[in-house]
Amino acid sequence: MTLAETHEEAVVQVSHISKRFPGVLALDDVTFAIEHGEVLALVGENGAGKSTLVKILSGIYRPDSGVVSLNGVETHLASAHDAQMRGITTIFQETTLIPDFDAMENIFLGRELRMKLGRTRGPFLAEREMRDAVRILYRDFVSDEADLDRPVREIGALRQKVVEVLRGLAFESSVVIMDEPTAPLSDRERNALFVSIRALKARGVAVLLVTHRLEELLEIADRAVVLRDGRYIASVDPREAGIPRLVHLMVGRDVDSVVPSAAMTEQTYPEEAVLAVNNLQRRGVLRDITFNLKGGEILGVAGMAGSGNSELARALVGMDRIDSGEILRDGRPVRIRSPKDAIRHGIALVPEERKTQGIFGGLSVAKNISAAALRYVTRGRCVIDERRERAIAEDYVSRLHIRPPDVTREMRHLSGGNQQKALIARYLLAGSQILVVSEPTQGIDVGAKSDVYGLIFDHVNSGGAAIVVSSELNDLTRVSDRILVIPDGGVAGEVRGGRGRQLSHGDYGVLEEAVLRLAVAAA
Ligand SMILES: Nc1ncnc2c1ncn2[C@@H]1O[C@H](COP(=O)(O)OP(=O)(O)OP(=O)(O)O)[C@@H](O)[C@H]1O
Ligand SMILES: [Mg+2]
Repeated sequence: MTLAETHEEAVVQVSHISKRFPGVLALDDVTFAIEHGEVLALVGENGAGKSTLVKILSGIYRPDSGVVSLNGVETHLASAHDAQMRGITTIFQETTLIPDFDAMENIFLGRELRMKLGRTRGPFLAEREMRDAVRILYRDFVSDEADLDRPVREIGALRQKVVEVLRGLAFESSVVIMDEPTAPLSDRERNALFVSIRALKARGVAVLLVTHRLEELLEIADRAVVLRDGRYIASVDPREAGIPRLVHLMVGRDVDSVVPSAAMTEQTYPEEAVLAVNNLQRRGVLRDITFNLKGGEILGVAGMAGSGNSELARALVGMDRIDSGEILRDGRPVRIRSPKDAIRHGIALVPEERKTQGIFGGLSVAKNISAAALRYVTRGRCVIDERRERAIAEDYVSRLHIRPPDVTREMRHLSGGNQQKALIARYLLAGSQILVVSEPTQGIDVGAKSDVYGLIFDHVNSGGAAIVVSSELNDLTRVSDRILVIPDGGVAGEVRGGRGRQLSHGDYGVLEEAVLRLAVAAA
């Protein structure tokens, strides 16, 4: 152990922590420290052990061996409540706020201020005092004060995260842990979250940040700790190390591209569009959207305002109503009023809200993958052919490198990113000709991105077509044939993408700039 790894003064010292699940050593003798007021990123591939470590620090799991010390004192974190009372606040990917309560009620839940009665506080709630406290905090953290009196389910992902941060402050936390907080956020919201992370830091609060978006590290992290296969690998200054080095540390080898090499062949397309969209409108959301999509093509969709660059995707498959406009399939007008209609016309959405919607936690990975494609695995009328189901699932598990590679494992025991991969496999297997994929690489590590895009390429190379909606411009310029720029609900323009062309790093930069210029000009 080196000096840098053990620190008496650290807010949190993790020493020789190990944690085993049946068949998996999730953490293997991990030692590192979180210093006062630093922003420490925790990075590693899907299944590396990040969330397990987070759960140990937040009192949810007990380590099999090793100790956690807070401010130099060995501490036994007995429960989530215990960790919170000792100054560790954790913001999980799924919010733990009570949806029907407003910001103040959530922040002061269980520790409400009472009205002052002389020098003590009586039985009545000091509602005004609490609301004022929240308002001041909130203004400090995001420079607006809207929505404080609305139930938190109505205020959007970013404000929910901020409310959770404020709850941490109200508990006088010394560490705030965030497990992939930016995954559901748009670029603008992410910047707002970073403002609140900096505000935490300025108050001397340490932040442990788990993320797969490595560019974020350059922007916000003072230091990054890398885990691989449950082991501590290194602690580096991300700006000094640079992204390629970080990736190397995470993956254990060099990864040069998120794009599978199959992309590098020149593409040709049929004349007729498999999908044409004319003047699509949805009041207040989509304006006069017109585009087409050919067989074999990948159309990227970049950047809608706010968190909603998925609205177009939802409208296309009938999840959101459209007010006017026309959708043509193979040249014929079709009516799509529900996802069922869409499926009937060969259009399927891989939705963005995969995490909360599609997981059958108690069922096996095989059952989760085949759920949308029972026709492939039923024998006769309604008997499931278990052997076939298993074989298909095993194929996807190996192509997407789902870890551990065991299709009988219960889905809830997989890491977040591996669950995502299994769900993507499910939608691909369903076999619609046109796939609309929303944020395909959310929560997926840098090495596995090319596996996911590889499946989308396979799909279009065998006659399908795809629309990929993504906030990761970097990837979008590489995997798309064309990129539609929709910054504020209307099409600002189109940029030719890099798929099938031999482009240099600099060329991609030029493409990205072209997209950004269109987006900004329209705003
Ligand atoms: N409750 C559990 N039961 C069994 N195995 C588990 C459980 N939780 C996690 N694991 C296993 O422990 C390993 C580490 O998982 P963990 O969720 O910590 O990974 P992670 O680094 O957060 O990955 P991701 O980036 O995909 O979220 C994985 O192999 C996972 O399958
Ligand atoms: Mg995780």
